Amino acid sequence: MPTDRILDVRELWAGYGATPILQGVSMSVSRGEIVGVIGRNGVGKSTLMRCLIGLLETWRGTITFLEQDVTQLQADARARAGFGYIPQGRDVFPQMSVEENLQVGELIGGPEGKKLPELVYEYFPRLKERRRQVAGTMSGGEQQQLAIGRALIGNPSLMILDEPSEGIQPSIVQHICDALKSFRAELGTTIIFVEQNLDTILEIAERCYIMEKGKITRSLAGEDVNADNVRAQLLL
Ligand SMILES: Nc1ncnc2c1ncn2[C@@H]1O[C@H](COP(=O)(O)OP(=O)(O)OP(=O)(O)O)[C@@H](O)[C@H]1O
Ligand SMILES: [Mg+2]
Repeated sequence: MPTDRILDVRELWAGYGATPILQGVSMSVSRGEIVGVIGRNGVGKSTLMRCLIGLLETWRGTITFLEQDVTQLQADARARAGFGYIPQGRDVFPQMSVEENLQVGELIGGPEGKKLPELVYEYFPRLKERRRQVAGTMSGGEQQQLAIGRALIGNPSLMILDEPSEGIQPSIVQHICDALKSFRAELGTTIIFVEQNLDTILEIAERCYIMEKGKITRSLAGEDVNADNVRAQLLL
């Protein structure tokens, strides 16, 4: 495997109960790339992300991360290995303050995770202003920044975001896009994101995988990541 490869997924099968959802997904990502996974509702994008980070068991196939086969590792072990995850719908601890939510990120980051609370506040100054506020009372955009900040605290090599722009006002979406690009530029973070928002995809994706019915069916790279092609894949 080339050494610049951070993630390599081969013929992945997974599902719920006896129902297969992922039906032979293959994809690979190089260090420092920002890669989008796009596709219509219900094709299995979130299922793929859960499988990558170990919240859903793999039935068949392999996930190789930083040249290690992680297919059988539990989610906590994958987090220690360098996966960071921001689920669809954000999922911050609503009763806890901003600061407390970030402390949970430090715990998850483990002894080898660099502790970066001040850095999180630099990328997301709004969180510093609101650090004593209870997370559940903040706007969707603020909660999304917090969910990203909590993942960032573990200093992940690979950050996986599931629909980061969903239900968030455009000015905050832009701020989040800028922050993601800064993570890559300043921390070397590799990013995989699921997205259905055309502007967000065009703003940050260098490459896109197209997902249809449990499989990756195409990819777009470079100039082919354009409005016409992306729109056609999302069937907007
Ligand atoms: N916990 C679950 N138990 C059973 N079936 C599920 C579960 N989660 C998702 N599914 C089913 O798996 C399929 C893929 O769902 P998934 O959430 O991965 O799609 P998605 O591409 O992320 O969709 P969306 O764009 O709406 O977020 C759907 O048919 C969905 O109903
Ligand atoms: Mg989803």
